[in-house]
Amino acid sequence: GVKIVTIGGGSSYTPELMEGFIKRYDELPIREIWLCDIEDGKEKLEIVGKMAQRMWDASPYDVKVHLTLDRREALPGADFVTTQFRVGLLNARIKDERIPFSYGMLGQETNGAGGMFKALRTIPVILSIVEDMKELCPDAWLINFTNPSGMVTESVMKYGKWDKVIGLCNVPVGAMMDEPKTIGKTLDQLTYKFAGLNHFHWHKVFDENGHEVTKDIINAMYEGKDMGIPANIHDIPFFKEQLLRMNMIPCGYHRYYYREEEMLAHGLKEYNDPNVGTRGQQVQKTEHELFELYKDPNLDHKPEQLAKRGGAHYSDAACETIASIYGNKLSHIVVTTKNNGAVPDLPVDCAVEVSSYIGSTGARPIAFGPLEPAERGWVQCMKNMELCVEEAAVTGDYGTLLQAFIINPQIVAGTKAKRIMDELLIAHKKYLPQF
Ligand code: NAD
Ligand code: G6P
Ligand code: MN
Repeated sequence: GVKIVTIGGGSSYTPELMEGFIKRYDELPIREIWLCDIEDGKEKLEIVGKMAQRMWDASPYDVKVHLTLDRREALPGADFVTTQFRVGLLNARIKDERIPFSYGMLGQETNGAGGMFKALRTIPVILSIVEDMKELCPDAWLINFTNPSGMVTESVMKYGKWDKVIGLCNVPVGAMMDEPKTIGKTLDQLTYKFAGLNHFHWHKVFDENGHEVTKDIINAMYEGKDMGIPANIHDIPFFKEQLLRMNMIPCGYHRYYYREEEMLAHGLKEYNDPNVGTRGQQVQKTEHELFELYKDPNLDHKPEQLAKRGGAHYSDAACETIASIYGNKLSHIVVTTKNNGAVPDLPVDCAVEVSSYIGSTGARPIAFGPLEPAERGWVQCMKNMELCVEEAAVTGDYGTLLQAFIINPQIVAGTKAKRIMDELLIAHKKYLPQF
C-alpha cells in the first residue's frame, strides 16, 4: 500500500483531498495517510483530521489517518508528500493584502508585493522539508500545492536540488471542466495545450479532428458562459480584440495584468469597505464556517461550502497526479515542472506550468513552441521576477528583493514601493529568518 504524507494537513481543503483519494482507491491503494501541521494549526488539524478519518470510515476502504505536529515522525517511508501549508496562516495573507492596498497598490496572495512575500516566507520552509525528505524518504515524490506554487516548486529543484517534484494548481482544472460545454463538447473530445507559468499561463484547444477551437471558446467567453474562473478572482472581462489577436486563452490571473487598472480599483473598493475587506478577510469567514461544519460528528463527506474557496477541485489535479505516477498512467495534467525546452522562450532548466504526460518518471512536458512577442515579453519578465524573488528568499539580500520589486509589473517602482517592502519586512519578521 501507498503512504501519503500531507504537510499543512490542518487546511480546510483536506476533505477535498480525501474525496479525491477515495474516488481513486482502486488504482491508488492507500495504506495510511499522515496529516502534519504545527502548533499554531493544532486545533484545525484535530478537527479536520477527525473529519478526514470519518470520510474513510464511511468508505469501503480501511485507511488510517494519523495526525502529528512533528513531520519527522510522519515522513519515514512516505511514497508521496503533498504540501498545502500557509506560513503565518491567513493573518499573514491579510497583511500581504492590506499593506500594499494601504499604499494604493495591488494586495493579492500570489501577485505583486503580497505574492513575493508569500514566497519569502514559504521557500525556507519548503527547503527544510526537502532536507528532511532526503534523510527520511529519499524516494518519495513531492507534490506541491503551496503558493506561490511556481516559485515554491522551482526553489525545490534549483536550491533544494530535488527533482522528484511536481507543482500543481486548480486553475487549469477549472478551465478544462467548464470550457468544453461552452462550445457543446466534452473534455474527452478536445485536446488542451497549456504553457506559461503558474497563474500566468495561456492555452489553446483543438477538437477531435485536430481543428483549433480556441477562437470558438474566446467567442463563447463573451456570451456570459461559465469559463471556470476561480471563485477568488473578480471577473472583469478581457479585451476581446486582444484575445482574438493572441489566439490563446489567458488564465484567470492574467486579469491582474491585462486589466490592471480595473482589478486594482475593485480590490481597493473591497479593501476600503469595512463590510467586505480583502479576500483573506473574506475567506477567514468561510474558513470559520467550514470548521464549524467539520466539527459535526455526523458529517462524513465534503460540504458544498468548500466551493466558495478559490482552490475548489484541486484534488482532481493532486490525486490524479499521484495516481498517474503510481500507475504510470500518462494522463494529461497541467503541472509545474522543469521546462526542458517545452517553452523555448524560457531557459531549459527553469520551472514552467505546462501540459504534460504524467507517469512513473514524473512529468513529460509537451512542447508548446515559441510565443509571439507580446506573450514572450510578459513571460520572460515574470520568470525573471520569480528568479529574483527565489534568490532573495534564499540569500535574504535586500538589494535582490528590491530588484524583484522593481521588475514586478504590479509594483509602481519608487519610494512608495520601497516603503511597502520595508513595512512587509517588519510585519512578517517572525517568518523571515533569512532577512
Ligand atoms: P491554511 O491557512 O488553512 O493553512 C494550511 C495549514 O498549514 C494550517 O493548518 C497551518 O497551520 C499549516 N502550516 C503553516 N505553517 C506550517 C509549517 N511550517 N509546516 C506545516 N504546516 C504549516 O491555508 P489554505 O487556505 O488551506 O491554503 C493552503 C496552501 O495552499 C496555501 O499556501 C495556499 O496558497 C495554497 N493553495 C494553493 C492552490 C493552488 O492552486 N496551488 C489553491 C488553493 C490554496
Ligand atoms: C485558486 C488558485 C489558488 C489560490 C486560491 C485562492 O484560484 O489556484 O492558487 O490560492 O484559489 O483561494 P481563496 O479562496 O483562498 O482566496
Ligand atoms: Mn493556483
